[in-house]
Amino acid sequence: MKLIMLGAPGAGKGTQAKMIAAKYQIPHISTGDIFRSNIKNGTELGRKAKEYMDQGLLVPDELTVDLVIDRLAQDDCQKGYILDGFPRTIPQAEALTAALAKRGEKMDFAIDVDVPDENIVSRMSGRRACTGCGATYHIVHNPSKKGELCEVCGEPLVLRDDDKPETVQKRLSVYHEQTQPLIEYYGGQGILRTVDGAQPMDDVFAAITKILEA
Ligand code: AP5
Repeated sequence: MKLIMLGAPGAGKGTQAKMIAAKYQIPHISTGDIFRSNIKNGTELGRKAKEYMDQGLLVPDELTVDLVIDRLAQDDCQKGYILDGFPRTIPQAEALTAALAKRGEKMDFAIDVDVPDENIVSRMSGRRACTGCGATYHIVHNPSKKGELCEVCGEPLVLRDDDKPETVQKRLSVYHEQTQPLIEYYGGQGILRTVDGAQPMDDVFAAITKILEA
């Protein structure tokens, strides 16, 4: 099963992708997580990516595309994967389609998690991310049972640098300009499915599994 999660920043792509990856035993590949891990480890890629991420801008395609295409060639991707945060531009989507076509493969579904902009800012300001393992919580909708610490690894939870309200507004406008056109792109390929992402998390998950198991 090869899936793409589409949706605005904070729509719940990561939350759902982790649940899907666990249920169907496929790797969850998040470009945002890959960049954040490189930033944490002080790599050259992390240094370059941070310049863009802190401003709410996309990391350039030339730093992103090969990274993902190489990742998809690894052994654990043979039975499928779920892409979260990639592709994010039409050139990224075209590069993905072409790389898969070379191997005689294609994506099964692009799931658009649809949430109105007005819900996004409150979701982002309430999100807390683990500094250790990257697990995500929400202070109201999905609080950690350990308060300010991660339930999984016990490390402190923080507000992501790019979740400050002024950066969120920029990320939203970048989303509408550069990523939303992918809805039409995957609609044209006949693999787009849309779910109402404003529902509670478990209802969103049920809607997605219904699509995958239809
Ligand atoms: P990335 O990490 O991919 O950020 P994003 O797409 O902006 O998505 P988020 O992680 O912010 O949100 P999400 O949709 O996963 O929501 P979540 O599940 O956490 O990318 C970060 C940056 O990296 C980009 O801005 C860019 O600079 C760069 N980048 C990454 N990929 C790139 C690429 N391909 N090309 C170029 N640059 C790239 O949920 C949000 C909150 O809401 C959480 O607190 C959660 O608990 C809560 N929540 C989730 N679902 C629900 C629900 N149903 N009801 C109530 N609360 C909910």
